[in-house]
Amino acid sequence: MDYKTVLVRTNEPYSIIIGEGLLNRCGELISALTPPCRAALISDETVMGLYGPNVKTSLEAAGFSVHSFAFPAGEKSKTPETLLEILDFLASSGFDRSDLVVALGGGVVGDTAGFASAIYMRGMKLVQIPTSLLAMVDSSVGGKTGIDLNSGKNLVGAFKQPKLVICDTQALKTLPEEQFACGMGEIIKYAMISDAELFEFLSKANGKCALSDEILKGIISLCAKIKADIVSADEFDNGERQLLNFGHMIGHAVEKRSGYTLGHGQAVGIGMTMMTEISEELGFCPEGTWKRLVELLVKFGLPHKTDFTARELAETIIMDKKRRGDEITLVMPKKIGACFCKSFKIYEAEELIGLAKGARQ
Ligand SMILES: NC(=O)c1ccc[n+]([C@@H]2O[C@H](COP(=O)([O-])OP(=O)(O)OC[C@H]3O[C@@H](n4cnc5c(N)ncnc54)[C@H](O)[C@@H]3O)[C@@H](O)[C@H]2O)c1
Ligand SMILES: [Zn+2]
Repeated sequence: MDYKTVLVRTNEPYSIIIGEGLLNRCGELISALTPPCRAALISDETVMGLYGPNVKTSLEAAGFSVHSFAFPAGEKSKTPETLLEILDFLASSGFDRSDLVVALGGGVVGDTAGFASAIYMRGMKLVQIPTSLLAMVDSSVGGKTGIDLNSGKNLVGAFKQPKLVICDTQALKTLPEEQFACGMGEIIKYAMISDAELFEFLSKANGKCALSDEILKGIISLCAKIKADIVSADEFDNGERQLLNFGHMIGHAVEKRSGYTLGHGQAVGIGMTMMTEISEELGFCPEGTWKRLVELLVKFGLPHKTDFTARELAETIIMDKKRRGDEITLVMPKKIGACFCKSFKIYEAEELIGLAKGARQ
């Protein structure tokens, strides 16, 4: 079968393998890297129900001894409570640091189980098996893991690079439409920050139905490579990695204000359009960039404006940024396919956001 592989050149390099039917081969792929040991198969209840049995069978056929743990699906589970439950499960099942955590699911599972693997006995081995489009192109790559607190998202976490990332594109067949669109939000982000050709391609495509399995596989590996290259150059997020935050500052504010009823990729879509409008208004990117981005987001079922006002969004951003001094770094497009970072004083936030018509006037 035809698989694609992307290498992430972090301190301990690892591969991302992308292809159809890989879930059934995960045991064999993992055992090529680490001798059979105990494996904690961690997932949410939805994904465990769909794919847990196949993954377990494959791991056991390769000699791993599997113990499974599933928690309720969704962002509401990305909490200290779930983390503790996972740690208790690992302890009561007798896992030690030579064993393996297999995180099977979307970004919530990858982040929470990944974090557990980073701190249980000061670190176990981790393999990521992302099953949502967003997790394949984004959260499973780069080693950021963590959980949310009541005060905000991703406030506690660790860098934990996996030994391997396995993306089975077949799993996307059961992904709900809205979740697929969220993944497209991040894919469009990659196009905006570094791949004008991908942007052109998606703009010409006739929405989701134009993405055959083969094309989707190509897009996932392209995006995973863009992220892998940025992460390889800046593993601990001190510089270039900030580009990946395009659309995320306003996006996170919209997401938080909505009480997380809006999906992450949808919020990022709104954040990207508003940042592009701001960049156009300030003369940093050519006129018409905003319009093209909006057309592309609409084509893939993503929103591009919000009912929150510039003041409401600025207040949320300021609250989030308090801990980091009086400057905010915004990622702005120069043109389609290239972005840059620019710092502003935090008190300028409302005025800047006010430049975008995407916020309620
Ligand atoms: N670590 C990082 O670098 C990073 C980057 C981006 C996002 N994230 C995090 O990722 C999370 C979002 O990830 P997500 O969008 O995958 O959310 P998610 O994990 O909640 O998955 C979305 C929904 O899709 C379901 N699902 C997943 N795969 C499925 C499949 N194949 N078939 C049917 N249903 C399936 C899940 O059960 C869930 O209900 C957020 O918490 C975000 O903070 C982390
Ligand atoms: Zn994101």
